[in-house]
Amino acid sequence: TTTITPLIAGNWKMNGAMASLSELQALAVLLTTGEAPRAMVVVCPPATMLAAASAQGALSGILTGGQDCHWEAHGAHTGDISAGMLADAGAQYVIVGHSERRADHHETDDMVRAKVEAAIGAGLKPIICVGETEDERDSGKAENVVAAQLAGSVPEAGGQHEIIIAYEPVWAIGTGRTPTYDEIATMHNGIRHILTNRFGERGATIRILYGGSVKPINAREILDINDVNGALVGGASLLANDFYTIISAV
Ligand code: G3P
Repeated sequence: TTTITPLIAGNWKMNGAMASLSELQALAVLLTTGEAPRAMVVVCPPATMLAAASAQGALSGILTGGQDCHWEAHGAHTGDISAGMLADAGAQYVIVGHSERRADHHETDDMVRAKVEAAIGAGLKPIICVGETEDERDSGKAENVVAAQLAGSVPEAGGQHEIIIAYEPVWAIGTGRTPTYDEIATMHNGIRHILTNRFGERGATIRILYGGSVKPINAREILDINDVNGALVGGASLLANDFYTIISAV
């Protein structure tokens, strides 16, 4: 797994406005004037900013992604956005199955898997999110829950196309709490086994990101853990300096 180039993705969620693109500009300056980043950098802004962010990011090597997509390519789905539209706006990635989507919009593993297939069909690289709740962790079910989510959310096409897994324990998102390093290592190692069992050698090349309260202060230790191939960052991706510090921790 040492040959996998780490990927640091920022998920802006429903934060920011066109004016926030100045943070992206500040990040671009940091990335192009400092030491060359050792990680791939992806920013996932709200869809309304995607085209502008993609054009701006292209100048400094910052890639972009959507935060969700529909499972169909087009049609009567008011308010939804297709994977092809995200690609059209310049995105190369799309977050799928984030726990906030699973909770707020009742997305099931079946829906998530269909979205992943739609993303692959549109040429996007899906970032597929999994993770247990606090109750599930406390009752010792974390690994089984994540295994079931992976089985249900990752389509067979994941063996032939680039996909990314993001392990985000729900209780660590936006809380400032993180699992212990051992807990992260155990989970990422378990996910790696699941991926290699299912996809063979290709499973060893799939990035597994950690997400949930990644901050400048803990990024280095987390990114150092075996089978942690990058991070999915929420709050700390909104400020250029914080996000740059995390990127530089690779
Ligand atoms: O998708 C990333 C996210 O859920 C983590 O959020 O704010 O805990 O870094 P945060």
